Order: sequence, then C-alpha cells, then structure tokens
Amino acid sequence: MKKQSIGVGLIGLGVVAGAVARVLLDKAKVLAEQVDCPIVLRKVKVLEQDLTRPQALEMDSQLFTTDEDEFFAEPEIDIIVEAIGNENPALEYLKRAISSGKHVVTSNKEVIAKHGAELLALAQQHKVGLRYEASVGGGIPLVAPFQYDLVANNISGIYAIINGTTNYILTRMAKDGMDFFLARNRAQQLGYAEANPENDIEGIDAAYKLAILASLAFHSQVRPEDVYCEGISRLDSRDFQYAREFGFAIKLLAIAKQSDNLIETRVHPVFIPEDSLLAKIDDVYNAILVEGDLVGKVLFIGEGAGALPSSSAIVADIVSAAQDIAFGAGSGVRWKLQPGKVIKPMSDIETRYYLRMNVADRSGVLAQISKVLGDHLISISSVLQKMVDSVSQTAEIVIMTHPAKEAAMQQALEEVTRLPVVNEISNFIRVEE
Ligand code: HSE
Repeated sequence: MKKQSIGVGLIGLGVVAGAVARVLLDKAKVLAEQVDCPIVLRKVKVLEQDLTRPQALEMDSQLFTTDEDEFFAEPEIDIIVEAIGNENPALEYLKRAISSGKHVVTSNKEVIAKHGAELLALAQQHKVGLRYEASVGGGIPLVAPFQYDLVANNISGIYAIINGTTNYILTRMAKDGMDFFLARNRAQQLGYAEANPENDIEGIDAAYKLAILASLAFHSQVRPEDVYCEGISRLDSRDFQYAREFGFAIKLLAIAKQSDNLIETRVHPVFIPEDSLLAKIDDVYNAILVEGDLVGKVLFIGEGAGALPSSSAIVADIVSAAQDIAFGAGSGVRWKLQPGKVIKPMSDIETRYYLRMNVADRSGVLAQISKVLGDHLISISSVLQKMVDSVSQTAEIVIMTHPAKEAAMQQALEEVTRLPVVNEISNFIRVEE
C-alpha cells in the first residue's frame, strides 16, 4: 500500500540539525514532489540544553523528546538522521536505528571513518540504507560520485583540501603574513574550528575524511589509523616566504594513492606548485582532485562545512532514502569491499623535500650536510642561504631535494641533527607535484 507520508526522526539540534529541520519545513512541497508523498519531521531527540537554542524556539515543542527510548519507539519514523557528531553515543544510536529497520543518514565523519564497514554490513543485514554524504566536504557531492558516477574507474589518486579551518589559517599566514597563533585565534573567533580545534590543527579531521574517501575510492577499508597524519602547527611565516621564492604554496593536503593494490594515505603540509589548481583554493573552501583511469582529472570545489551546505547534503540523503521507501528502488548496497589491498608503510613513500635548518655560518658546513644526504642517496636540487646572524655566526639554510624515500630522509635527518655544526632542523615539508 502506498505510504501517506515518510517520517523523519532527527537526533540532535545543533546548527546543522536545526538547518535540516528548517529545510524540511521550508522546502516541504518541492521535496514531496520528488517522492510523491510528504516527508514529515516526526520527532527530534534533544538534550535538555538544546531546548533553549534559537532553532528549538522556532519549532513545535511537541516534536522534542529527551528520552531516547521514546524517540526510537516512535512508529511513524522511517528515516533517522544523526547530526550530533563525535563517536559516542552517535555510534550506538546509529546501530539501534539500523537494527530497528530504519534507514539512516549521518553527517558523522568520525563514526563513518572508524565504523563505516561495520555499519554498512549491519545496514545490508537489515535491508536499509546508510547514507553519509555530509560527512566529507559539507555540501560538496563526494560520497555519491564515488559510489555511482566514478565507480567504473580505477582511481589512482585523491588530492584534497578537506579541512576549512586549516585552509583558512594557511591562507592568512600566506597572504597576510600572520603567525600561526594569530591566524588560529582568528579562525576560532569566526567559528570555523571544531569544538576541539586540535582535531583540525593536527590533521585528525582531515584524516577521518580521507579514510572515508579512500575507502570509497579504492573499495577497501581504510581506517583512520591507516592515515599518516601531521598537522600545521610547525609551520612558520619563513616557510611561506621560502615557498614563494621556490614557486610553491603551502597547503594541508589529504593524499590517497593506489597502485598495484598498494594504498598510500597521508595528511600533512605540502609544498604544491603555486600555479596548480589546489594552490588557488583559499580561506575555508575545500577542493578535492580525483584522478581516474577513465574520467581523467575531476575537481570538486565548494564550502566544506557550515549549516546550509551540510543541510544540502543531508536533505539530499533523506530524499534518496525516501525515494527508496516510496518507490521500492535500491537494495541499500552502495559500496562493496574488495579483498587483497594493502596499506603502504609511510617509510616507503617517495617525494621531494624542503628542509630548513639553522647552522653554524662557517666553511665546510654545507659539505657536511650534503655528504649525509648523499650517503642516503638523497640528491639536492637547490640550496638557499639566508638570515645570516653575524653576532652568533649562524645562518639559515634551505634545501630542496629531488625525490627520495621517506625512510632515507628520516635516517638522514637524524644524522644531520647530530652534526655539531647544525643547531636545529627548523622544519621539513614534503613536496607534491
Ligand atoms: N572543522 C571542519 C573544517 C568542519 O574546518 O573543515 C567540517 O568538517
């Protein structure tokens, strides 16, 4: 029998969930046209403190419950939307929703990155859909393109700016010469950073998102712990100055590559050519460059966070689930794991490197450093010497290398640090061309 309406239950009433509730009301007519029946918000599971939020005051108070048993027992709910973030209790809520036969929609990158495969298996067992378009890149379509439009491709690489907060900070450091702390405080004042800004700054947020994208792209389970991760707090305004001199920009890139069943995933600051497309993505914008054997290069750009862009993705997932319910289409299967793929150890990757070090300003220093690099088969492509301090007789040396193995570079850095003429290795940054 044709359903009279499709019911939605919302968990959370933060800014994103509030925007979803508003869109479901404001766009009720156009959304109903796409499903041939109304999509109706039936219940919102809130915490006591959510009830004083501006979003709550705009809504019918009958919709709210603080009691999770009451929420899950609501018979009119077909689709449960989780928008509370963090691993717990979101994971338990999603499992409970799926196990009770509800389709689920989530924006939770941490839960999907850590438990996506397990939730997917549970959803397949219960013949419901698990949708998570808003978990990566806010409103930028990424999950659906990997599940549908790009599925015939062998994806060789993903190069992504997928954390708006760090991209904002790096843009301010590069364009306004701000130091890291000032730029980070500005990002926090503007409300860009996560509740725990370390997740943004240390690359953890980007690592969750990369794990989700790489899992989809390579049809393999890539876990957050498989992603090598370094943040941006070591960057100094001088690194930006030198990057410019060498013709590069500095970005926090999330990189995933696949070749011969070996998967490489890493998040860290990189030098990228200043005339490349990704170098021009500034402020809180996200951009995801995908390389496939059939499609070639495809670039997705947009606002990677925020209430409205995220609501765009979440409501699209709700409509897609509602269409499956209304028209009986789809099996809920959107992604199948292929066995046999292996994560490449970070020590095996190969890139060029930028090194900045403080050294004694006297003869033979460069020769000692280049001997160590040479002993590890690391070839130098250019050298700059700047910031000579005649009082302390020190100088700053900047070295760009040709491609070298990470393991060799780490060994060489250890030995260079031990040279008496080297005061410190101030920074080293990988180069991606
Ligand atoms: N903190 C994230 C960012 C928000 O800066 O991109 C969305 O995941």
